[in-house]
Amino acid sequence: MNFKITLLPGDGIGPEVVHEATRVLDVVAKKYNHTFCFQERLMGGCSIDKYGTSLTDEALADCKSSDAVLLGAVGGPKWDDPNAKDRPERGLLALRKGLGVFANLRPVKVHPALIDSSPLKPEKLKDVDILVIRELTGGLYFGQPKMREMRDGKQYAVDTLEYFDYEIKRIMDLAFDLAKGRKKKVTSVDKANVLESSRLWRQIASNVGTANPGIQLEHTLVDTASMKLITSPASFDVIVTENMFGDILTDEASVLAGSMGMLPSASLGESAVPEKEARIGLYEPIHGSAPDIAGRGIANPVGTILSAALMLRHSFKLEDEAQLIENAVYQTIADGARTVDLGGALTTCEMTDEILKNL
Ligand code: IPM
Ligand code: MG
Repeated sequence: MNFKITLLPGDGIGPEVVHEATRVLDVVAKKYNHTFCFQERLMGGCSIDKYGTSLTDEALADCKSSDAVLLGAVGGPKWDDPNAKDRPERGLLALRKGLGVFANLRPVKVHPALIDSSPLKPEKLKDVDILVIRELTGGLYFGQPKMREMRDGKQYAVDTLEYFDYEIKRIMDLAFDLAKGRKKKVTSVDKANVLESSRLWRQIASNVGTANPGIQLEHTLVDTASMKLITSPASFDVIVTENMFGDILTDEASVLAGSMGMLPSASLGESAVPEKEARIGLYEPIHGSAPDIAGRGIANPVGTILSAALMLRHSFKLEDEAQLIENAVYQTIADGARTVDLGGALTTCEMTDEILKNL
């Protein structure tokens, strides 16, 4: 089969890790006789430097006309001026919105060989297998008004947490759907004791729960959820939550896996919902651009390589190929290969070499 993949390496360690993922994809293509055609575009700080904007219309159009998008990371101190009119992160948000990818899947699994890399007690990490589904195109990140101005001689800023019922319904439907193939439990995370938007969130979650009697639904407040992620992470199966809650909880959850560099993500649109027209998937590691180690060739490529596996599974329906990559990564970790973030000394390229040997 033939697939066109747009690469958005971005900033910092982004280009380093995306390059390694393409090496893995090339080997998979050869093995299974597929053609993966890569086209590279700028997005983030690198796009601000070249075009004066973090995401050009052309780059977005090119993403839309491809079969999937693989992204590295964006941002860095160079573009951190609070008064700048554009920021690398704005490009990322515009991309997510432009592609309509409202569901961000962040699987968190603990490899037995990495239990020691986590600061948590080993017994807490046993059987941890969580799928966090973060709402990605609404909530606090996008709500209007969102601005800053002078009011009565004082500086004033506002962000808005807003949701329509349909935005909550479609992500709940997906959460329940995915829970069917797992441990059949959905934890809907909100702040319904304080926020009106969370009360709507909880109401819709309950409605979808009633329509899915085979799945256990639990409502948890976000503050409690953040505690339970550390005290009893194995009690979770599928977690579904608002955009910013999901951003925060997944950085916390990455500690379970030993390093943020390990975690992949898949962002899906309407194609995630059965019987809807297919849309483009966006695949990216959950880590940032890590300016402190950028350019040194020591970043962990696993999060991006596993994101490429998710791309094969969700966008291309190549389950065997996806599993081949996941098993190779799993075996490589089991064999003891470690990048610096995991307490080892392998470079980005050497870690990928080890994974390629296991493909
Ligand atoms: C993530 C990142 C982004 C987000 C940043 C870079 C805008 O933290 O993907 O989790 O907040 O969504
Ligand atoms: Mg984040």
